[in-house]
Amino acid sequence: MVEQRCRLPGWQDLVMSAEQAAELIQDGMIVGMSGFTRAGEAKAVPLALAQRAHEKPFSITLMTGASLGNDLDAKLTEAKVLARRMPFQVDSTLRKAINAGEVMFIDQHLSETVELLRNKQLGKMDVAVIEACAITEEGGIVPTTSVGNSASYAILADKVIIELNLASPAGLEGLHDIYIPQMRPNRQPIPVVAPDSRIGTPYIPIDASKIAAIVITEGKDSPSNVLPADSETQAIADHLIQFFKEEIDAGRLTESLLPLQAGIGTMANAVMEGLIEGPFDRLTMYSEVLQDSTFDLLDSGKLTFASGSSITLSPKRNDQVMRELDKYRNRLILRPQELSNHPGIVRRLGIIAINTALEADIYGNVNSTHVCGTRMMNGIGGSGDFARNSQLSIFVTKSIAKGGDISSFVPFVSHVDHTEHDVDILVSEQGLADLRGLAPRERARVIIDNCVAPLYRPALNRYFAEACARGGHTPHCLEKALSWHQALNTEGNMRSLLTE
Ligand code: COA
Repeated sequence: MVEQRCRLPGWQDLVMSAEQAAELIQDGMIVGMSGFTRAGEAKAVPLALAQRAHEKPFSITLMTGASLGNDLDAKLTEAKVLARRMPFQVDSTLRKAINAGEVMFIDQHLSETVELLRNKQLGKMDVAVIEACAITEEGGIVPTTSVGNSASYAILADKVIIELNLASPAGLEGLHDIYIPQMRPNRQPIPVVAPDSRIGTPYIPIDASKIAAIVITEGKDSPSNVLPADSETQAIADHLIQFFKEEIDAGRLTESLLPLQAGIGTMANAVMEGLIEGPFDRLTMYSEVLQDSTFDLLDSGKLTFASGSSITLSPKRNDQVMRELDKYRNRLILRPQELSNHPGIVRRLGIIAINTALEADIYGNVNSTHVCGTRMMNGIGGSGDFARNSQLSIFVTKSIAKGGDISSFVPFVSHVDHTEHDVDILVSEQGLADLRGLAPRERARVIIDNCVAPLYRPALNRYFAEACARGGHTPHCLEKALSWHQALNTEGNMRSLLTE
């Protein structure tokens, strides 16, 4: 079994325990690990690091693709291993440490981390820890359920630890397409011209002499935590499906739409599920995370091809997909996140990007990351890579949060991740605001009328009227622009705005 997976001559000499391999990582080092949206993360070495740090404290800079599964970020945070962390996380324990200023979190566009590393702007990577389903004869690493930043981390690090996961299906080999852009200033165009373009190798090519350890594991990925759609989420999906139908009728889209990107989570999943029933055909995805809905669409025959950087599924779907990989083999590609999220490719393919906002303002600016402008939620993830460069940039959010204590539509967002210039369509369960070609005053009217909860609509109308009376291209009452967040901070809700 191990021999079939590990084809590198002399591999036996490199096999060691996770604890022994973890000794290669020392205080102050910069470490890159595999893992993207709870898929394909190195599982044993990070645990060994956490255990060691409880006995003998040390800390590192940890870079990954995106979020890790198996509570690894929580365990590393509790053991105080993380001095610096980038580029994304979704863990509540780590979130607390970030917001307490104990972990320096660098919230980055997911396409950019390896570009910065390659250009020596983030220091030298000491060790990369990469989960693999196989190692080729030349030492090439075949990743498991995600590629993320693994390829560049393995290529750029001084030493590489491979976690060879025997529980991952051998059939994953062949799904990956590894391509690394050339160094600037002589970089050539990246030849992805369609979601199914294969342009690289099915393994990460590295200098085999850098492989310092092979750790044999049998861990499982954490399942996706996507919930079934509730009535508001379903309403958001329904508004978007209706919008796509109208775009087809207006001749702006065909029944194939354009390659779709959908952020992780319940809302994006519900929208993608909605496409199964509609008048759509020969759809494609050029996205980051392939979730249950991707495979539902593939099974329905509506989706012809899906390109992503990871596969994150519910337990039942995961069992079926991993058992029947051959059924999907010719319709799937996993790429480095630098390519799945590449702004140039996103622009070239004309992607329809669907991401979630924490809050949006009356002019269309979107906050996806900071509660009340200060407390980090997860990070910008790939939403910025897609939003600015897509053909249609769509943001979805429920109109209220916390049972109506919070309006997700406010006079002015408390933190800007996506500017008004990057947002074409806003959708809540109330309706859809098409902002294309509108001036700020027109956008405000459309957003307030279509997306805002009826409870908060009069208050936002009052704000907008007062602001317009004062004038300006983008009218504001500056002293009141953040008063909704101030109320939330001091009173725990925004309800005082209803009666002002
Ligand atoms: N102010 C304060 N809190 C708010 C809020 C607002 N305007 N809107 C929502 N919330 C709270 C919710 O009540 C919920 O709190 P809880 O966890 O205590 O229940 C939490 O924020 C999450 O909201 P939810 O409606 O469940 O949305 P979600 O789980 O889909 O997450 C984002 C929304 C924006 C946090 C998430 O999509 C994200 O991290 N986006 C940025 C990264 C990204 O877009 N990735 C996709 C491409 S990689």
